[in-house]
Amino acid sequence: MITIIAGTNRPASKSRAVAELYARMLSDRGIENRIMDLADLPPDFTTTALYDNTGKNEAFNRLSGMITTSDKFVFVVPEYNSSFPGVLKAFIDGLDYPYSFQGKKAALVGLSSGMQGSGLALSHLTDILNYLGMHVMAMKLKLAHIKKNFDGKIITNQLYQELIEQQIEQLIHF
Ligand SMILES: Cc1cc2nc3c(=O)[nH]c(=O)nc-3n(C[C@H](O)[C@H](O)[C@H](O)COP(=O)(O)O)c2cc1C
Repeated sequence: MITIIAGTNRPASKSRAVAELYARMLSDRGIENRIMDLADLPPDFTTTALYDNTGKNEAFNRLSGMITTSDKFVFVVPEYNSSFPGVLKAFIDGLDYPYSFQGKKAALVGLSSGMQGSGLALSHLTDILNYLGMHVMAMKLKLAHIKKNFDGKIITNQLYQELIEQQIEQLIHF
């Protein structure tokens, strides 16, 4: 089971659409998968699910449960202010430390409206996931100018499409 994390809580995000693309491509290859969208986080989770409130928010527990019951992940990471969204860090801060990601595997894909393709965001996130004991696949995709290259369903850039196919094949055997 591969869990694909849409790494923002912005409703109807491009990240969610890219997560759906990965889900379709994994399903086409017969790989079981599911999407975990941070838009499903309870809006008050920073005050009701973290620190002394760990375990008390059922809606948060449903999402964190998808982390504990999965060994392989795709993180779809939009570039927000040259890093990854703060809500993703807050979600990680609410997970059971240090076991949630230990020894598990992840592929990272970044997207941005600008020219960086979320590259720095992927580096920042890699530091954190490695600290938590997660193995991050070396091939990380940086999908820059996403609006021009993805219509919400189909990748219109041939190179991006080939890179995504390669990354998925690598992840299946990772
Ligand atoms: C709060 C915020 C900050 C953003 N910062 C950047 C940025 O630093 N560089 C960039 O290229 N795009 C930036 N964007 C645009 C997103 O990277 C772009 O919309 C991305 O492709 C998909 O984001 P989404 O998953 O929220 O739709 C930002 C968007 C938001 C909402």
